[in-house]
Amino acid sequence: MLLDDVAEILITEEQIRQRTRELAQEISRDYEGQDLLLVCVLKGGVVFLVDLMRELTIPHSVDFMATSSYGASTESSGVVRILKDLDAPIEGRNVLIVEDIIDTGHTLDYLTRILRERNPASLRICTLLNKQERREVDIPIDYIGFNIPNKFVIGYGLDFDELYRNLAFVGVLKPELYEPQT
Ligand code: PRP
Repeated sequence: MLLDDVAEILITEEQIRQRTRELAQEISRDYEGQDLLLVCVLKGGVVFLVDLMRELTIPHSVDFMATSSYGASTESSGVVRILKDLDAPIEGRNVLIVEDIIDTGHTLDYLTRILRERNPASLRICTLLNKQERREVDIPIDYIGFNIPNKFVIGYGLDFDELYRNLAFVGVLKPELYEPQT
């Protein structure tokens, strides 16, 4: 059972639902009457994106990018690769990047730099989770769901070795599952 691998539940399904609704209300107010494009960073961001967009009360479109900063390991290499680019140009559009987690900041640092070169009208960031303690590059974040401690989190889009993304909550993975046994 997937649940047997969870050491603790950090953020419950209900807490995520409540906070997502609050963020959606804030975003709906901020972009009222304006064009809005949500850019989701695959794969982790997709669960948050679909729940967030269903709570938005303003018209918006979505596009997807895929980057890679991690291998099968749990540590960021600081190296970001684009695996899939956006389908359409973003020049003159209000772009809101939707992420599941910001950790070292390398992914968003790189992404915001390349997207800014495409001359969007505005570029902001919305992340469900923020792991400030791990930050190596300073990233201004406009919308934060939860600030979390430096624990290995899974669920609600976040994976370990591509598993656990379907959990409805954000949990902490049992350390013995990713630390080498001595
Ligand atoms: C995660 C997350 C961010 C990135 C953040 O994605 O979705 O894109 O790591 O880490 P950073 O701040 O240290 O750069 P990941 O590379 O694990 O891919 P995934 O979403 O497909 O699981």
